[in-house]
Amino acid sequence: MDKAETYRQLKAEIDSVVEGETSETARYATAACLLAQAFKPRFFWTGFYIVDPMKDAELVVGPYQGTLGCLRIPFGKGVCGHVAATREAIIVPDVHEFPGHIACDAASNSEIVVPVFHADGRLAAVLDVDSTDYDAFDTEDLTGLTAICETLLTV
Ligand code: SME
Repeated sequence: MDKAETYRQLKAEIDSVVEGETSETARYATAACLLAQAFKPRFFWTGFYIVDPMKDAELVVGPYQGTLGCLRIPFGKGVCGHVAATREAIIVPDVHEFPGHIACDAASNSEIVVPVFHADGRLAAVLDVDSTDYDAFDTEDLTGLTAICETLLTV
């Protein structure tokens, strides 16, 4: 099965599991689990950093699969913080070249980060996927992950 088809099936599975579920935590956890399982071992760390409603411009770690993640990331810091500030997805082929990259786990060498929005357009979270390989993510990952993130908070 090619990667685009894997993403199509995964999106259908995630949508089906979370249908009618009102807990955002349950939705994030489902997506993190199914993505990590489907793409292991390429997806070394898969999870969400959530916009903290109690803080100004700060992400706090949400459901994830992988090694210990750092707890908080200010908007503008590292790859996740950059995506939170710009609201645009990014592929980083070599994280060591990215200014301000936060190395939660030194084994990470490339990553992709995709924003998740509420229905009213407010930023809800970012999906962060890291790999121990360099250059592990391409436009098919971007398209597949974006499609999953687009409907993740739609009950
Ligand atoms: N790589 C991220 C930090 C989060 S962890 O890798 C889990 C970044 O620079 O935004």
